[in-house]
Amino acid sequence: MRVVTDRQEMAQLCREARRPLGLVPTMGALHRGHLALVEQARRESATLAATIFVNPAQFGPQEDLAGYPRDLEHDLELLKSAGVDLVYVPAVEQVYPPGFDTWVEVGRLASRLEGARRPGHFRGVATVVTKLLSLTRPDRAYFGQKDAQQTRVIKQLVRDLDLGVEVVVAPTVREPDGLALSSRNAYLTTEQRRAAPVVYRALCRAEQLWQRGEREGGRLRREVRMALQSERLVEEIDYVSVADAATLEELDRVAGPALVSLAVKLGAPHLIDNITLE
Ligand code: PAF
Repeated sequence: MRVVTDRQEMAQLCREARRPLGLVPTMGALHRGHLALVEQARRESATLAATIFVNPAQFGPQEDLAGYPRDLEHDLELLKSAGVDLVYVPAVEQVYPPGFDTWVEVGRLASRLEGARRPGHFRGVATVVTKLLSLTRPDRAYFGQKDAQQTRVIKQLVRDLDLGVEVVVAPTVREPDGLALSSRNAYLTTEQRRAAPVVYRALCRAEQLWQRGEREGGRLRREVRMALQSERLVEEIDYVSVADAATLEELDRVAGPALVSLAVKLGAPHLIDNITLE
């Protein structure tokens, strides 16, 4: 496995790589969710590249960029054992050199849900993903369904900017009790970790009702909120959404595929999760 820190060297290695080239962009602190993406990408690629870059542009002023979990050595070991060929680990100046002043702003899709809760977040994600895709020019890029809105935003920018890469979305990986894997789970105290499966239970409540024929968006949202409120450690519900799975517009009635998503504050971290009804 080759570890590359220089952007020109990375671009050249990718130009010379055997095709298809797969790319798994990450911010490190890798867990089984990332490894599932890497395993799928490995099966589907002749050359497999990954990136590890904690992107400052997607953190808001109140968000803990400095405290974001980092363990580069361990991450590199995991990627090596998973059969990755190339890992790009740029310093911030490689991605945002002095004078950098071009940003990628996705419109409506990026303004809602996580976009409303974290202003500027998707501008940072869209910009870094566009840069990583332009640099490496992969055939396929892999992202997790856990960040459902992020995957929609990335598909939109790939289409709008003619980036010519297939965006592959892999299913969320969960702990046995339902908690979706996330690098941010590392922030949970023992007590918060015990309470955290309420997030998935609340989503499953919507699914149960939908399976029994409930189609009213308002009722589904209310029931998810009630399930969340049953856990006293849930300090704040940022949003509960039942939206069109493609446009992320809130639905009065669920008639086609719908994304049920939510964000809650459970102690220090905000947890996000989603399921699709289809
Ligand atoms: O999902 C992530 O880890 C990040 O948002 C991404 C896509 C690597 C961009 O920094």
